Amino acid sequence: MKATRLGKGRSRSRKSIKSIAIMTGGGDCPGLNAVIRAVAKTAINKYGLEVWGIEDGFLGLIEDRMHVLCYNEVSNILTVGGTILGSSNTANPSAYKIRVGKKVKTMDVSDKCIKVLKDHNIDALICIGGDGTMTSTARFAKKGVTVMGVPKTIDNDIYGTDITFGFNTAVNTATEAIDKVHTTASSHHRVMIVEVMGRYAGWIALHSGVASGSDVIILPEIPYRIEKICEFVLGRSKRGKRFSIIVVAEGAKQKGGKMFIAKKLAYSPDPIRLGGFANVLAEQINQRTGLDCRAIVLGHIQRGGTPTPFDRALATGFGYTAIELLMKGVRGHLVVMKDGRLSSIALSRVAGRIKTVPKNHHLIKAALAVGTSFGV
Ligand code: F6P
Repeated sequence: MKATRLGKGRSRSRKSIKSIAIMTGGGDCPGLNAVIRAVAKTAINKYGLEVWGIEDGFLGLIEDRMHVLCYNEVSNILTVGGTILGSSNTANPSAYKIRVGKKVKTMDVSDKCIKVLKDHNIDALICIGGDGTMTSTARFAKKGVTVMGVPKTIDNDIYGTDITFGFNTAVNTATEAIDKVHTTASSHHRVMIVEVMGRYAGWIALHSGVASGSDVIILPEIPYRIEKICEFVLGRSKRGKRFSIIVVAEGAKQKGGKMFIAKKLAYSPDPIRLGGFANVLAEQINQRTGLDCRAIVLGHIQRGGTPTPFDRALATGFGYTAIELLMKGVRGHLVVMKDGRLSSIALSRVAGRIKTVPKNHHLIKAALAVGTSFGV
């Protein structure tokens, strides 16, 4: 299929788009169904396209598990958490791991995936996913597949977009949990440490920490010093504030130290799983200060439940824009929200990168100004 360059990300292929497929890759996230609904309804209502749903992310593409989505299937799902298509974060088409006897063999099955799409006469693929999914999607674009990415993750760490859908819901959930912990902290004069997700980025910790008025916020981007945290909580005790709330990102680390790895999953493209670091921190603080400390690891609760109105609206805008851009001839791009406007950037610019919290972020400055410690 020969393509003519038209300008930024645009190409007018000789073959017009009549049929698309949608897949959701990586961890589940509030708002996935809202994107599926927006993509499918826009494609059907506005352009009369045939819409396929690929089951369980790239795994379903590799195993040729997909079906045509009927209108009813994408109705009444706007407020529903998770994904009606299923997802998987263990299948990377360019490095697909299969067990051969006792050994794990890595194979590139990208061409097999492309054949599956061709066999079903699918003209374009919409991948809804995080940084790992976008890196794989970029590889398909390089191989000539017509693709469009939609940025999903509670971590808010996808490069090129100011915000991802799912993040707002996760921040709401985390903030609500931290608010509730205040009761026990103040009644029992304890140091309560709440660990939030976010992998190598501290977006959830920063936003939920500021929103809940937490006393200490520990981010992966600002390695902490244990003595500074202890000084801070002891100082509060001396001033009559006999409790402290600490929000810690799962990817946090001590200055000169390493991240706390919970486990490594051999079959996953990104095998490292974080989680549980709050327990280590609680022990460190208790041993140095003698204060009663408790750790709460919020975990997957942050990915569950119904998306907030903000995420429903954002996801709907993203899904609609994905179809509009494809129909305008844009190829191999990621739909993004930049400076309050929906647009797109080339997947090649996104692949292999993440967006972390800059040290001069306005919320860090604001938190410092109201007396919050970042443990440094
Ligand atoms: O990327 C989303 C996320 O929830 C991260 O915040 C977390 O580190 C990871 O996924 C957990 O992955 P899994 O669901 O495989 O345990």
